[in-house]
Amino acid sequence: MSLLTELHEEVANCQDCVLAQGRKNSVPGEGPENAEIVFIGEGPGFHEDQQGRPFVGAAGNLLEELLESIGLRREDVYICNVIKCRAPGNRDPLPEEIEACKKFLDRQVEIISPRMIVTLGRFSMERYFPGAKISQIHGQPRKIGGIIHYPMYHPAAALHQPKWRQVVKDDMSRIPQLLAQSDSIAEVDLPQDTEQLSLF
Ligand code: URA
Repeated sequence: MSLLTELHEEVANCQDCVLAQGRKNSVPGEGPENAEIVFIGEGPGFHEDQQGRPFVGAAGNLLEELLESIGLRREDVYICNVIKCRAPGNRDPLPEEIEACKKFLDRQVEIISPRMIVTLGRFSMERYFPGAKISQIHGQPRKIGGIIHYPMYHPAAALHQPKWRQVVKDDMSRIPQLLAQSDSIAEVDLPQDTEQLSLF
């Protein structure tokens, strides 16, 4: 069994927070173990919970469209979320739920060892850029431990607020070039250090 499949099974059996009680399915993530890019959203919504797959609702359609615009299919990338089970009524994830799921997200990144992590929305941004403001740092790559970290608005934001659609499209359109020129992206030593946030 592959390391990712093993991890996905652990997620399916996880009882580490209250969200386990309300789920129909856990939504560990999907995509190839050798993906170059990992996209990290917030958490499963209704459709994701029903199907056990990430980004299959309206935001997922837009994500697929955005991927297509840079010549990628969803099968080419790994897609997951900060929390792996749906929060009731799609409310924001609670700190203890994010903390309970952190071990899974960290292992996903470790196993896949991508060249780039794209955070979609503020909850996944917060994991790598604590305290930062998405309006200030979206579209700005930073290299952390050799991996390009690239914060973007969540596709759902573009669905709700048409003015952000072009911003999301523009940020997505830069990804191929960032990968091609990754050597020129500055390494940030301690992103967890709030001092670093003045950089943004
Ligand atoms: N679907 C997901 O899987 N994650 C999100 O963050 C939004 C929709």
